[in-house]
Amino acid sequence: MQPIHYTVSYRASFKPELPDFFIRKYLVEPGKKGSIVLDPFGGRGTTVIQANLHGYSAIHNDLNPVSIFLASARKSIPPLPELIGRLESLDLKKQRFSLTKSETQKLTPFFHPDTLQEILNLRKILLEEKNKDDPELKYIGVTALSRLHGHSDGFFSVYSFPQISILPSAQLKNNRVRGIQPEYRNVKDRILKKMKKDLSVTLPPEFYRASKKNHYTMHDARRLDSIKDGSVNLVVTSPPFLNKVDYLTDNWMRSWFLGFENQDPKLTVTASLSEWSDFMRDSMREIGRVLAPGGRAVIEVGEVDVGGRDENLEESLLKDLPMKVDGGFLRGEELYINLQNFTKLANCWEVKNNLRGTNTNRCLVLLKSRR
Ligand SMILES: C[S@@+](CC[C@H](N)C(=O)[O-])C[C@H]1O[C@@H](n2cnc3c(N)ncnc32)[C@H](O)[C@@H]1O
Repeated sequence: MQPIHYTVSYRASFKPELPDFFIRKYLVEPGKKGSIVLDPFGGRGTTVIQANLHGYSAIHNDLNPVSIFLASARKSIPPLPELIGRLESLDLKKQRFSLTKSETQKLTPFFHPDTLQEILNLRKILLEEKNKDDPELKYIGVTALSRLHGHSDGFFSVYSFPQISILPSAQLKNNRVRGIQPEYRNVKDRILKKMKKDLSVTLPPEFYRASKKNHYTMHDARRLDSIKDGSVNLVVTSPPFLNKVDYLTDNWMRSWFLGFENQDPKLTVTASLSEWSDFMRDSMREIGRVLAPGGRAVIEVGEVDVGGRDENLEESLLKDLPMKVDGGFLRGEELYINLQNFTKLANCWEVKNNLRGTNTNRCLVLLKSRR
């Protein structure tokens, strides 16, 4: 898969192979040129990038502003030599910031003081109003964001967790238990190395032609207000599962780095199957509205533990189908199950393979018909 997918990690993202499979099946193989792809729960932008790689323009929606940044920073990717030149021109030692009490508490468990000063200088540049839509700075920004914390020397932080920002108290404990302290990590060197890796495979011209026309929207998936009725040909998406992931807490350092720390985007997190079903019914109705007749929506869900019992979430979706939607009906057409022989996050949490967590991708395909 194209390395551009892996610029940044994101909790509960799906593998690019998943949207790739459905984009090929429903758009590329039947030769449906000019189709529009939508992901209403876009995350790090996997669906949109894969659609663009096949030459389809796409709409990335997510209620989390961090997700909008992760995806839109890869809308127009400047050539590597220009990115390198721009990175070299940034003065990351320009200012010596004095830290607020809260910044000291939050950030010093992770970073050496000199590394932190470089991060603060870069953050200041990225947050300047005139720079917010600058494609070079956005790409440098998303690469920097992906280097904030992790387990190897390629990251800015002391040994930490890569996908999730753990809490400062957990990081302090980690440092104590492992007997480690943050060492100086040069920020520019690490951004440079990562950019070279992610841009090591040339993007096809159709990527740029398609991505130019992408849209990035920040709606609740139940009200995709700016997306017109019948304007989308294929949806490939993965909604939040039952109480599995708290995207805001997991992304707290990214939110801080991007200046979103005071936003509270009311993401959907519920442990109740009936609440989740209500949420998904409204989301499916909205997906049905924006789909063109003949269009399909692929909804990836998993099996979850509800009160000690395994629940396959697609069964809950099927209870509402067929469904009357604006401009027609939404019907269940097929179910694809991809068995995995590992549990996501197994290595990190020492969960034994296939015993806990989500072990399948269950993709329910819905078809919109006029009647
Ligand atoms: C499972 S993740 C999607 C991951 C994505 N497939 C990827 O590959 O990165 C679910 C996403 O739903 C978003 N989300 C949660 N509640 C939402 C809502 N009510 N409306 C829109 N997006 C929401 C979260 O911010 C998260 O990014």
